[in-house]
Amino acid sequence: MSQNDFLFTEETSTAEEPALAASPWLVLVVDDDDSIHQITTLVLSNFSFEQRPLQLLHAHSATEAVTIIQQQPDIALAIIDVVMETQHAGLELVKTIRQTLNNRRMRLVLRTGQPGEAPEEHVIRDYDINDYKNKTEVTAIKLKTLLYAGLRSYRDICIIEHHKAGLEKIIACTTSFLQCSSLKQFASLILGQVAFLLGLEREQIYCCAAINSAATDSLQLDVIASNVVDNNALPPDVLAKILQVQQDKTSYCGEDCFIGYFTTHRGNENFLYVSKGSKLEQTDHQLLSYFSHNIAIAYENIRLRELMRESQRELSYILGEAVEKRSKETGSHVKRVANYSYLLAIKAGLAEYDAEVIKLASPLHDLGKIAIPDHILNKPGKHDADEWAIMQQHAELGYQILQHSSNEILQMGAIIAQQHHEKWNGKGYPQGLSADNIHIAGRITALADVFDALGSDRCYKKAWPLAQIIELIRTERGQHFDPALADILLNNLDAFLAIRDAYPD
Ligand SMILES: [Fe+2]
Ligand SMILES: [Fe+2]
Repeated sequence: MSQNDFLFTEETSTAEEPALAASPWLVLVVDDDDSIHQITTLVLSNFSFEQRPLQLLHAHSATEAVTIIQQQPDIALAIIDVVMETQHAGLELVKTIRQTLNNRRMRLVLRTGQPGEAPEEHVIRDYDINDYKNKTEVTAIKLKTLLYAGLRSYRDICIIEHHKAGLEKIIACTTSFLQCSSLKQFASLILGQVAFLLGLEREQIYCCAAINSAATDSLQLDVIASNVVDNNALPPDVLAKILQVQQDKTSYCGEDCFIGYFTTHRGNENFLYVSKGSKLEQTDHQLLSYFSHNIAIAYENIRLRELMRESQRELSYILGEAVEKRSKETGSHVKRVANYSYLLAIKAGLAEYDAEVIKLASPLHDLGKIAIPDHILNKPGKHDADEWAIMQQHAELGYQILQHSSNEILQMGAIIAQQHHEKWNGKGYPQGLSADNIHIAGRITALADVFDALGSDRCYKKAWPLAQIIELIRTERGQHFDPALADILLNNLDAFLAIRDAYPD
């Protein structure tokens, strides 16, 4: 059999197929007359519907019927006698099924011996009764017709409910995609959600999501999530199937696997390969199809967001570096300050998002230095009082440059530029703010900036040894620096030194 034959064997079931191994339709017969049970059993002995046989359950009273229904909530159809232990036992049973047991799926047919016992119209309407039959008119063919109609209707209700549950899951998945902020997070979500859609555990499915970029003519798959990748390569059989789908440009829905195919407006081709230990049903295909469409769109959104964040980070570094270069300092300073600030923010209990904003904004702390004359900025040795006053203006100047931006990161940059020389004890500049009156981002960047400056060579000084830096931070704890932040740094020194090593000058 060729790959193609294997892929596109149609999922058809023929009459010859010995397919009756499927679970039976449960049909409950409720009647106090034994002969009715016997006749019903006889007439329906070889009955099947959609390759599924019938299993009859028998109750001789309404009370017995309730017990059976409680044990078997999946009964498709109940044929109920009206007069049993009481004159209206059958009608009471119908109310119990719909109201007390809250079973809306089961199809109900009323049967009665005398025409005078017919239920009132509102009972038929309100309790969703499928049919009302006089026992004398129920011939074999009428009984079978009734069964076909009832089971078909039950099947459709089940399909609708299954779809509804599936769509609710799709919506839940979409919501979590919207909240997903990185491609890494997105990838791990995909596997979990495919399993969730199919009602299985992650370990029970084989799943792979891949993108073929619009930029390439040939198939160059970029796998974004997978538990079928071996040594960074998809197994040959999976790859062959995906290739076939790419050529056909349409999703493949087989019993063995599903391969969703979607193109986005940017022209990228998206594939979602899913298989499980057992046959994939049509409803599985439909859910997976909706889901793979979602993946395609969510992927591009998240990728775009990542690109924007990357470019924002790059721009922030480039600006910060440009300033540092003017003051003959190294470009790595702003990267280290960004990463120290992020770590301090996370350890101080800030939300991931806020820590990320501080990280992106902190490289702008000295932006105001672009307006400081070169001879003052780059003066070796100490500034005189006038020069020092001009140097100090960089905080306010940086704030003025950034303050009018509506961009969240630049707004944060404005605060950081203005407050990164404030001190916990109120003796800093430009405003002399103290303690909590200094924005947490200002307090964080102040510590990150000084910690890094002390450890680096500058035009006016040599790098300090670590022991001396630690000593200063201890001394300035509660003076220059927020004591809580100083403690975080001192207690996590290894993590901060790892950052210093990662971004050398
Ligand atoms: Fe500064
Ligand atoms: Fe700095």
